[in-house]
Amino acid sequence: MRVLDAECTKKFMQMAEDGWEQGWHERNGGNLSYRMTMDDVASVAENFDLTAKWRPIGTSVPGLAREHFFITGTGRYFQNVVRDPEHSFGIIEVDETGENYRIVWGLLDGGRPTSELPTHLMNHEVKKAQTNGAHRVIYHCHPANVIALTFVLPLTDEAFTRELWEMMTECPVIFPDGIGVVPWMVPGGRAIAVESAKKMQSYNAVIWAMHGIFCSGATFDETFGLVHTIDKSAGILLKVLAAGGKRQTITTQDFRDLAKDFHLTLPEKFLDVKEEKSETAKTAKTAKAAKVTK
Ligand code: 13P
Ligand code: ZN
Repeated sequence: MRVLDAECTKKFMQMAEDGWEQGWHERNGGNLSYRMTMDDVASVAENFDLTAKWRPIGTSVPGLAREHFFITGTGRYFQNVVRDPEHSFGIIEVDETGENYRIVWGLLDGGRPTSELPTHLMNHEVKKAQTNGAHRVIYHCHPANVIALTFVLPLTDEAFTRELWEMMTECPVIFPDGIGVVPWMVPGGRAIAVESAKKMQSYNAVIWAMHGIFCSGATFDETFGLVHTIDKSAGILLKVLAAGGKRQTITTQDFRDLAKDFHLTLPEKFLDVKEEKSETAKTAKTAKAAKVTK
């Protein structure tokens, strides 16, 4: 079968297009990877160039030895994934040591995988082991609301998780484990990959301060939906802050009731926060105090 006719290729392209339409992929911003199933590989392997040169990944992922991935190209645009697939993304194979990769399809005319290849593969390695192979999609994008919040909230897992949970009742159902935050770091290398992979041990969503977000999921829909939910929640929080802060909110007891009925285990570190200490409550108090002083 032609690569472009495979179901997994169509889904990969659709997700890239959906992200582009959301405005999360200015210029070459963001990158997407998908760990192929054995059936996916078998269905398109006749198109693979097995003479391609092996190149270093820049990190070591022995847990992904011999795996194949769809991956977007560095400097290539999500805007062009549907218009010009063979230049915009490709299929890579990881060697038996987990140290090298080769491009077996696509990324035409000297294309290379995203500069965030180390983070993608290290996240895949963590999630493959942790979910018994269920998670296959790693997605990085630059959603404006999430990025804006990293200028306002303390850069802690606790602050981001609790504040974003409070903005929409279904948030704790969609990301019950919470959200990790990596402080500002130089992107594109092994160091940020190591920090992200550490956070991926605990969460399916990791925010990069002043940069964007990485999410992991079993399917394209689930992974996209996670980013979509988090960015919408971040947008609501920005509106609430701009409107003067919270006057009322979902309380710790409300979260405990929700957890009981939805059979969720919400980590105690995100529940055990004093309501009056929450960031938006503080903002509202400061605004009130400023008014009184005037
Ligand atoms: P690439 O073009 O290398 O994928 O980089 C885009 C990006 O978002 C880096 O974080
Ligand atoms: Zn980025």
